[in-house]
Amino acid sequence: MLSFSKKNIILCVTGGIAAYKSAEIIRLFKKDGADVRVVMTESAKEFITPLTLQAVSGNQIHDSLLDADAESAMGHIELAKWADIILIAPCTAESLSKITHGRADDLMGALILATNADVYIAPAMNMNMWLDKTTQDNYKILSERGLSFIGPAEGEQACGDIGPGRMVEPNEIVSLISSSTNRGILSGLTITITAGPTREQIDPVRFISNNSSGKMGYAIAEAAIELGANVNLVSGPVSLHADKAINISNINSADEMLESVMSFMDESNIFIGCAAVSDFSPVDYIDTKIKKEDSEQLDIQLKKNKDILSLVAEHFKNSYVVGFAAETSNVEENAKNKLNSKNLNMIISNDVSDQSIGFDVDENEVNVITKNETIFLKRDKKIRIARQILKIIHSNIN
Ligand code: C5P
Repeated sequence: MLSFSKKNIILCVTGGIAAYKSAEIIRLFKKDGADVRVVMTESAKEFITPLTLQAVSGNQIHDSLLDADAESAMGHIELAKWADIILIAPCTAESLSKITHGRADDLMGALILATNADVYIAPAMNMNMWLDKTTQDNYKILSERGLSFIGPAEGEQACGDIGPGRMVEPNEIVSLISSSTNRGILSGLTITITAGPTREQIDPVRFISNNSSGKMGYAIAEAAIELGANVNLVSGPVSLHADKAINISNINSADEMLESVMSFMDESNIFIGCAAVSDFSPVDYIDTKIKKEDSEQLDIQLKKNKDILSLVAEHFKNSYVVGFAAETSNVEENAKNKLNSKNLNMIISNDVSDQSIGFDVDENEVNVITKNETIFLKRDKKIRIARQILKIIHSNIN
């Protein structure tokens, strides 16, 4: 899997001589699978043309906070939400100062204030400007706030001075960000995940099923791969594509899902039941198509399916077992009851009465509930919710 596949990266280019290297940074990010958008300050355009960066990134440049057309295409708040990673490279002393003071009088300043993305800064300036107490204070404040600095490197500067202030080379910047975002916190662990609906056949053409696109389960599987885990994904019928690093087991019915899950559990450290398993299946399967002409009314006897999640929790006490609870009312209370009744380590609840989150959409908003705490994950893309869930699981098993 490419380091940045499915990652949205914003490169903010500010006005320093090293701006000419930003085209190479974009190329390297894209080569590693990222979708890259570029924000330029006015002074950056003195060093490299917007057209160059547009051509390399394949996206329109973003350079204005107050342009109604630009804002209506993708406004600063949308951009801030779109990004998984923001890199400011080169970052001048002025831009560093602006971010430290939370100024939002241009697109880059507003973006940094509005984003939840991981922000990386690659400073580039004259060594005396870097070593000046004001810049050093700004550096310290931003580091303490959790922004990550890459460099500056030492060496010969454009002005002829020799010392700290050079921008770190593009390949090094990209590889440092790659290793810090894919830290492999789950490496060595095997995770088995269920996703999608199950189908309980009535006859060869009809079945009972549940509403589920499988998007949340697939997002968790992808995020787990990113974080270094071995992943088994037991999937009902969905129209999604799984990354080739995922060990996929395609099933139809709840019984098949149970059998497949159990075959993986001896080796699994974590089980995440994300599937919308049918609660009932027909007692009898009719092996020829039921003719509607035969009767005005049809009685189908249903029997309860086995609860995969409860069975895993019962038989694999050394595994960390996580369930999902899609609720339409008393969301947290119902989820907590399920946590206890199914004997789980964690349950993730969401309110499916809100149609903008949950089924078949790309965003979700959930509560991550354990016996000790409830963590609210505010509305975000499913892949990012997935990463956060896995990081919480990781901190709970360590
Ligand atoms: O009890 P309920 O179906 O609401 O619980 C939802 C959770 O239980 C989900 O994590 C789902 O994947 C899991 N489940 C299961 N087997 C079933 C029914 C639900 O694993 N037969």
